[in-house]
Amino acid sequence: MNYNIAVIKGDGVGPEVVGEGIKVLLKIATKYGHKFNFNNVLAGGEAIDATGECLPQKTIDACLSSDSIILGAVGGSKWDNEPAHNRPESALLGLREALGLFANIRPAKMYKALENACPIKPEIIGNGFDIVVMRELTGDVYFGKKYRDDNGVAHDDMNYSVKEVTRIAHRAFKMAELRGKKVTSVDKANVLETSRLWRETVENVSKEYKNITLNHMYVDNAAMQLIRNPSQFDVILTGNLFGDILSDEASMITGSIGMLPSASMGEGKIGMYEPIHGSAPDIAGTGKVNPIATILSIAMMLKYSFDLTAESLDIENAVLTVLNDGARTSDIASSSEKYLTTSEMGDIICDAILN
Ligand code: IPM
Ligand code: MG
Repeated sequence: MNYNIAVIKGDGVGPEVVGEGIKVLLKIATKYGHKFNFNNVLAGGEAIDATGECLPQKTIDACLSSDSIILGAVGGSKWDNEPAHNRPESALLGLREALGLFANIRPAKMYKALENACPIKPEIIGNGFDIVVMRELTGDVYFGKKYRDDNGVAHDDMNYSVKEVTRIAHRAFKMAELRGKKVTSVDKANVLETSRLWRETVENVSKEYKNITLNHMYVDNAAMQLIRNPSQFDVILTGNLFGDILSDEASMITGSIGMLPSASMGEGKIGMYEPIHGSAPDIAGTGKVNPIATILSIAMMLKYSFDLTAESLDIENAVLTVLNDGARTSDIASSSEKYLTTSEMGDIICDAILN
């Protein structure tokens, strides 16, 4: 089959990790006889430098007409003085909105081989953990009206509609059906009206999923429970802002943010796939960045956008194999361990995808 992929390499370590992801994808193409067409487009800091705009219309159009999008990372202190609407991060928000990508899927799981990198005591972590954060991505305080009034007060309007909560709740329950059959909905219903609507709506949706256990948790408690007893969670369903924070926290429990992929989906098949780590300008160009988060994001793309389940699994197994064999980039190596460069890790994962 033929697939058209828009590629946004982005800033900082973005080009390096995307380069390794594409290497792996080309290996899959050869093995399974697929054709992936890549269309490189600009967004974020690189787009500001080239065109003055963080998200050129050309990029939006190219993304809209593709089958999926791979994104490295955007941002860096170089663009700190850009006005808010033209910061590199705005490109990300603009793409999510323009493509209607309301469901952000962020799996965080611990690999047995990386147990030592986990900052939580073994007696707490027990048999490890395997969580998916299902974060709403196009609503909440992120997209509410933002302004400063004449009295020197800044406003960010937090709002959620029944429609927005309903569609993300369905995604969480459907995800739980394929996994541990448990949804924890995280809100702040003791304080926020948006959260009370969130809770009621999630309750209503849950009636359609009798085989799934639903519980509700306040976000402050959830932040604590993630450290206290992470294995109690299966799917965490939450809003945009809480999901932003909790997904970073969940990622750190795995030991390295350099391992974690993400998918952003809308109503259809098109999705945007990106590592959850940022542009890490401090290590850009040093060959130190871990490409696994991007490579696993590409595995998610094969599964969710292209229904290529075997190919996706092939990549996940290759990653597992090299980790079990002791392959490490600097972020997941112990201080005495020898570590691989970004491209050596990409190569070794390609080699583990057997012909
Ligand atoms: C993320 C990032 C973005 C967000 C930023 C860069 C706008 O932190 O994808 O988690 O807050 O959504
Ligand atoms: Mg974030």
